[in-house]
Amino acid sequence: MTDANDRELVIRDLRVAPAANPEHEILKGIDLTIRKGETHAIMGPNGSGKTTLSYALMGHPAYVVTSGEVLWKGRNLLTLSADKRARLGLFLAFQYPTAIPGLSVASFIRSALNAKLQGLDKNPDVDPTDATRGGISMLDFRRRMREKMALLRMEDSFATRYVNEGFSGGEKKRLEMLQMAMLEPEFAILDETDSGLDIDALRIVAEGVNAQLNPNMGVLLITHYQRLLNYITPDTVHVLAAGRIVTSGGKDLALRLEEEGYGPILRDAGIEAAASEADLAVPQAPEAAVAAR
Ligand SMILES: Nc1ncnc2c1ncn2[C@@H]1O[C@H](COP(=O)(O)OP(=O)(O)O)[C@@H](O)[C@H]1O
Ligand SMILES: [Mg+2]
Repeated sequence: MTDANDRELVIRDLRVAPAANPEHEILKGIDLTIRKGETHAIMGPNGSGKTTLSYALMGHPAYVVTSGEVLWKGRNLLTLSADKRARLGLFLAFQYPTAIPGLSVASFIRSALNAKLQGLDKNPDVDPTDATRGGISMLDFRRRMREKMALLRMEDSFATRYVNEGFSGGEKKRLEMLQMAMLEPEFAILDETDSGLDIDALRIVAEGVNAQLNPNMGVLLITHYQRLLNYITPDTVHVLAAGRIVTSGGKDLALRLEEEGYGPILRDAGIEAAASEADLAVPQAPEAAVAAR
């Protein structure tokens, strides 16, 4: 029997504060259910708590959860380490990926893949460093890397470079997508994967994401701009402001944000726009305007 709980991630009344300042809540009660096979977009002005949400879901130590629960596969994720969450199929593509000098892209991804193959309870019969005992064989690994790198149109030499060391903004985002493609998560959180990409890179990344969408993966797509949604069509769009989801709708909501900026929607929700209108506006990126023609 398949329990409905096996098919969805449920966030209930999630409240989150920085560990350094637990009195100051950034997220003030988030409720959200995302089923496998669905793509939900979260849009919101800068500073609204989008990255905090992605970090809280993944278990970043700089944040404390002051209340709420996140249910996934019959467990409350919030009680588990980030490592266990990843083993349970969660994946976060970082807004600002970090460099790891000395560690090659291939070794990094192979370690992550093998750790995941070990399972949640670290099956003792599986030795992730030993291809004959449950680790992916070098041949299979290379084959899979080649396939996924082709999908994201990456040069072969990419695999031997150090993780994010000297990478351009676009290369960093592509590496995040390569990790996702290799790890085949069941729930992927993409934090501003579109930021810093020119239009060609944006298209390649979006095609890469679209090629990975499947009925066994839920996606939370975090973005400040609507332009990514020209390429990846969300089932639902949520607007996050001041730590709460103030409204939800279809793709038309993203288009309305593009036309009007965040100001009117926040006013409708009774939120006094603290930031300037300039910050709240959702400018159409010039290259997106070109692509739209
Ligand atoms: N670790 C932290 N310590 C203190 N304040 C933080 C921390 N992380 C985020 N904030 C603050 O919380 C708010 C939301 O930040 P963030 O989640 O990064 O927003 P977004 O990703 O929507 O731009 C901002 O005002 C930010 O300065
Ligand atoms: Mg952010």
